[in-house]
Amino acid sequence: MKPVTAAAVLLLLAVTSARMFAQQPSPPAQPLLTDQVFRNLQVLKGIPVDTFFDVMGMFASSMGEDCTFCHSKDAVFRHEAFGDETPRIRRARQMIAMMNGINQANFGGRPMVTCFTCHRGSNSPVTSPKLALQYGEPEDDPNVINFPPEARPAATEILDKYLQAIGGAAQLARLTSFTAKGTYSGFDTDHKEIPVDIYAKAPNQRTWIIHMQDGDSYRVFDGRNGWWVGPDAPAPETLTTGNLDRYRLEALVAFPAGIKNAFKTWKVGRTAIDGTPVMIVQGTNAPLLPVNLYFDTKSGLLVRLVRWNATPVGPVPTEINYEDYRDVAGVKMPFTWTVSQTYMQMTIKLTGITPNVPVDAARFAKPAGAR
Ligand code: HEC
Ligand code: HEC
Repeated sequence: MKPVTAAAVLLLLAVTSARMFAQQPSPPAQPLLTDQVFRNLQVLKGIPVDTFFDVMGMFASSMGEDCTFCHSKDAVFRHEAFGDETPRIRRARQMIAMMNGINQANFGGRPMVTCFTCHRGSNSPVTSPKLALQYGEPEDDPNVINFPPEARPAATEILDKYLQAIGGAAQLARLTSFTAKGTYSGFDTDHKEIPVDIYAKAPNQRTWIIHMQDGDSYRVFDGRNGWWVGPDAPAPETLTTGNLDRYRLEALVAFPAGIKNAFKTWKVGRTAIDGTPVMIVQGTNAPLLPVNLYFDTKSGLLVRLVRWNATPVGPVPTEINYEDYRDVAGVKMPFTWTVSQTYMQMTIKLTGITPNVPVDAARFAKPAGAR
């Protein structure tokens, strides 16, 4: 996506972020719903705010444009202007109705046809067959939800090979916590590296704090609940469904010992990432959408994770690529990962991980300002 897109999103995000942030352990409140926050919704009412921004990500990504393709240009500077009517907002509302009609009439209401199905990154869908596509090199996207299944190897074999590759069950069991330091960079920092701290405790707690210019941004998973609170969060958020599950998955990558029990059903496939052969192990916990884990066929290491969040306008992807595995207390851990989302890309580069240090439980408590 174009940097402008991200810029517009991030400016929007900055608006709601004045409230800040001491640690304050308390039980989570209900997730914030769109009606409580936005002023001019006709269609996307009553859904969690985190899901709503995935919908906007689907729109921008499908159009191949930034937020202000539909929204008033003023929205970049005056965020209330996101609620202003424009001809394209009205058009987009009609499109939602059209899409829902097609899915109702033909696919039992399942989101088989989405904005992306027609638009594919262009505001004007192509109608005529593309001969270059027919006769050119096929473009293979490894990030697919549906892929042809492989009978062998079994998912458990691939997962066992992975656990072995990163150090084996005995070593993994000895890693009970860690803290890490490194840098974060993304559209919102103009790709400048800024400091990040990570705290993690087995089996599944993980917090990262990004020290942004205008305040700290917290992403907290306490093992069950997740929060995103900070200058870059659209609204102080209690995460829901797929976005909450993303935090669970990132904690799982930090402590993968239990990975074989992380999903109820598995499916295996084969593909390549930039020419390197990989196995896809797809895990599903219905009703959440599947998660694809990509393991390098040779090394057995996890190199990519793709998950989709279900929204009222179809599945919205997040891709995380893991690299630079290094040994920490006998366990190989990725020191670099890059996250691609419909609204921005970001990279974390760790400079050091300190294993098995005490981590205060308050690190995983709900950050103040979260709702
Ligand atoms: C394809 C057009 C389109 C694009 C691109 C788009 N939006 Fe929207 N946006 C809409 C529509 C339509 C609504 C109103 C939905 C409704 O009526 O329920 C809306 C509503 C909103 C609102 C609620 C405003 C209010 O107060 O009512 C916000 C905030 C918003 N969009 C942010 C964004 C952001 C951020 C992006 C870029 C990632 C974006 N939008 C990209 C079409 C778009
Ligand atoms: C079945 C195919 C199809 C689907 C699904 C679809 N669109 Fe469209 N859309 C079109 C076509 C065709 C046009 C007209 C393009 C043109 O005039 O060049 C269009 C036009 C638009 C425009 C106006 C673009 C402009 O240049 O002003 C917007 C905005 C838009 N669509 C948003 C959406 C959104 C948001 C979704 C998902 C909720 C969506 N569309 C789903 C086919 C589709």
